[in-house]
Amino acid sequence: MSTTSNDTALLTRDELLVWLHEDDPQKLETLWSWADDVRRSCVGDQVHLRGLIEFGNVCRRECLYCGIRKSRSLPRYRMLDAEILACAERAAELGFGTVVLQSGEDAQRMDPDAADGLSGFATLIRTIKERLGLAVTLSIGEHTDEVYRTLREAGADRFLLRFETSDPVLYHKIHPPIQGETRDRFAVLRALRELGYEVGSGVMVGIPGQSREILADDLLRFVELGLDMVGVGPFVPSPATPLGKHPEHFALPAGEQVPADETMAYKVLALTRLLRPYGNHPSTTALATVDRANGRRSGLQRGANVVMPNITPARYRAAYEIYPAKACLSTDDEAVLRGLHEQIRALGREPGFGRGDSKSILARRSSAAADAQQETTR
Ligand code: 5AD
Repeated sequence: MSTTSNDTALLTRDELLVWLHEDDPQKLETLWSWADDVRRSCVGDQVHLRGLIEFGNVCRRECLYCGIRKSRSLPRYRMLDAEILACAERAAELGFGTVVLQSGEDAQRMDPDAADGLSGFATLIRTIKERLGLAVTLSIGEHTDEVYRTLREAGADRFLLRFETSDPVLYHKIHPPIQGETRDRFAVLRALRELGYEVGSGVMVGIPGQSREILADDLLRFVELGLDMVGVGPFVPSPATPLGKHPEHFALPAGEQVPADETMAYKVLALTRLLRPYGNHPSTTALATVDRANGRRSGLQRGANVVMPNITPARYRAAYEIYPAKACLSTDDEAVLRGLHEQIRALGREPGFGRGDSKSILARRSSAAADAQQETTR
């Protein structure tokens, strides 16, 4: 097996395609156990838990798959900084080492020139870091480098931005560009990495218009981008969106279209573990939504080592409806967490403690430090 900084793929594109076409249950069992073995030997048995706070659903985008797209009529909310802080305090009390602050792409909230904009949000991050000692992950969409830099300087540790699909034609179709903004998500991900964030991305599996060839290319991108975290989940049709209402307008002919089912999502997760063996990869909510009985657990047994329970205050949860019937709408955080701990232990694993940084970024930082050391002693 390769080193932590492995940036060449363990599997070729052709091999990935064979797995993406595979439907023999016995062969798939070998894939699941291969991914589970690699997970155990590279990142161990701890399952890192992240408290997810969906702090606002205001969004300037019109993504064709997403239930909080701008034009959808929906009660819109922005949590106050004090509410977010209270929620982070609760996360710390419950024993989380990380909070994930997720929202729609809200340019106003991150406006460097607005009184209630970027500087307030940066202060909030500083407070969460200093007062609670939590790692902070941001999932707030595309913004300028100034925004990303300010938040990084305030102490944000990690950033999640899925590139959704590596096919530029499909990407533009499902993710209409905003006029005047030309930077693609790959460039954004590189910029985030340059700023020193631990970087996560990922894709949806089974978006209408997605072929197995596209998916194989997505997987190879995870390697090329050197991702520290990869989130993959099945596409869940959201009826109030174009892709939910009329998937047939977008889908490829039967046989070519990737199904949005749990088996395909597990395959992509398992292959992700093989390609990014040291990364922190979640068993996602979308997986738990399409496979209610087993999704979360099976994800953990097929490559995942992270779970992100939702700790958004109850009154906001229904309005953060990216897709309907999202799993984990239960709002008794403590009971959810207890159940999760039991589930993790029943798998012979342990709930993680502390920040749970990814091993890939730790390796990157120590090799950067060694390089700097060499520079100074030269
Ligand atoms: N089904 C599944 N995942 C979705 N996301 C958005 N809409 C859907 C949907 N209908 C995912 C996207 C986004 C993440 C926050 O949620 O991949 O990046």
